[in-house]
Amino acid sequence: MPGYPEFVQKYPSYDTTHGLDELRQRDYSRLDSLGQVYLDYTGGGLYADSQIRAHQDLLKGNVFGNPHSSNPSSLVATQLIERTRAEVLRFFNADPAEYTVIFTQNASGALKLVGESYPFTPGSHYLLTFDNHNSVNGIREFAHTKGAEVTYIPVALPDMCGDTASLEASLELGQPDKNNLFAYPAQSNFSSVVHPLEWIERAHVRGWDVLLDAAAFAPTNLLDLSTYHPDFVPLSFYKMFGYPTGVGALLARRPALKKLHRPWFAGGTITVASVQGDKYYLAEAPAAFEDGTLDYLNIPAVEIGLQHLRSIGVETIHERVRCLTGWLLDNLKEMKHSSGVSLARIYGPVDTVKRGGAVTANFFDRDGAPIDHRSIEAEANRVGISLRTGCFCNPGAGEIALGLSKPELAACFAQPGHDQRLSLDDFRLCIDGKSSGAVRVSVGLVSNFEDVQAFLKFAEGLLK
Ligand SMILES: Cc1ncc(COP(=O)(O)O)c(C=O)c1O
Repeated sequence: MPGYPEFVQKYPSYDTTHGLDELRQRDYSRLDSLGQVYLDYTGGGLYADSQIRAHQDLLKGNVFGNPHSSNPSSLVATQLIERTRAEVLRFFNADPAEYTVIFTQNASGALKLVGESYPFTPGSHYLLTFDNHNSVNGIREFAHTKGAEVTYIPVALPDMCGDTASLEASLELGQPDKNNLFAYPAQSNFSSVVHPLEWIERAHVRGWDVLLDAAAFAPTNLLDLSTYHPDFVPLSFYKMFGYPTGVGALLARRPALKKLHRPWFAGGTITVASVQGDKYYLAEAPAAFEDGTLDYLNIPAVEIGLQHLRSIGVETIHERVRCLTGWLLDNLKEMKHSSGVSLARIYGPVDTVKRGGAVTANFFDRDGAPIDHRSIEAEANRVGISLRTGCFCNPGAGEIALGLSKPELAACFAQPGHDQRLSLDDFRLCIDGKSSGAVRVSVGLVSNFEDVQAFLKFAEGLLK
């Protein structure tokens, strides 16, 4: 297999990212001292030692109280939360007059806020791409309950891009006097395809609100909210910089936020609530959307994480990820058994245009029979490679990639005993002979050539 000289010859801009090698030695040394090959950045980012130290110093050097008060310890916590909110807006180039930041537990929490509060009614529409995380798919249940129409736009093999013409046709389905919501991921967590940000404006000019899932995009791309103006942007911060877990955000455009109706009230979301008067008054956003006590000890670590990313430069991370992904794709594409059968079938673009740093594939033996993704994971585990297998909570992209048809799925779900319960093993039996998942390797912030080469060597070991 070709080595580093061939790699840098093909991807000379990798040389401009060597600051990240120094950073890895200095701030992520545990990766190499523990001999870990971490290839699941789309699952979760990794934190730097310096982030933990800075957060620990902050905790040790202050007395933080519950922010729902006005005593000195509470005010310190409030101040840091508000500073973090402002830093999130700055990071995404968002005008505070246009956007606000609602802290949530994760991207799924942000999506649920939109789903449960969006004013779906009979005649209104929820439009979404097949390629979506289940936490975006799940919003359809709120839409169904409120009598709205739900329409999926397919993505097509081999590159798994969506088709702008079919989007335009679907956008025409929205009745102009109703509230209509269009949801798609800026970057797929299955195929890593980058869907066009221009779709936002196409939907806006037809009166649709737009939910742009940026959970997989934000760790390696700058989402500039002064150029693009999606109405709702869910995020998980651990995906961007590893720490803290348990904090995400909904970046929301103020006019769209005004349309949302919360289905309940909670501590922190109201100005006044009365028991005898059976009445409550919601607070202004963002407080109206933040139920109970915020994670006030961890939220300041988000500011530390954002500053960490800013000090590296998202463009530098993006470029390194592009080079390493290109190398992974170039080499995987070339691997063939002695029988001439290709080892891997890659889903999504097979060059670095219009894609991010996750490479998802199924592997085949010398006779062309699929190798079960679970056995690939077991083998990878044995040699200390952390990768991901399955459908990555993205069943729509999975069904397209794996060739599972609507009648086949309907027949499976209609089988006796399958109306209420279906285990993954039952599902595998239903789709007998077809893969129920794939293998995903994803590179990120401190990935290096050796990580990628370790995976390629592992893949080469599957050749017969
Ligand atoms: C594109 C995308 N959206 C949403 C999510 C949900 O994120 P979380 O599990 O942090 O809520 C994920 C997680 O993998 C994702 O990749």
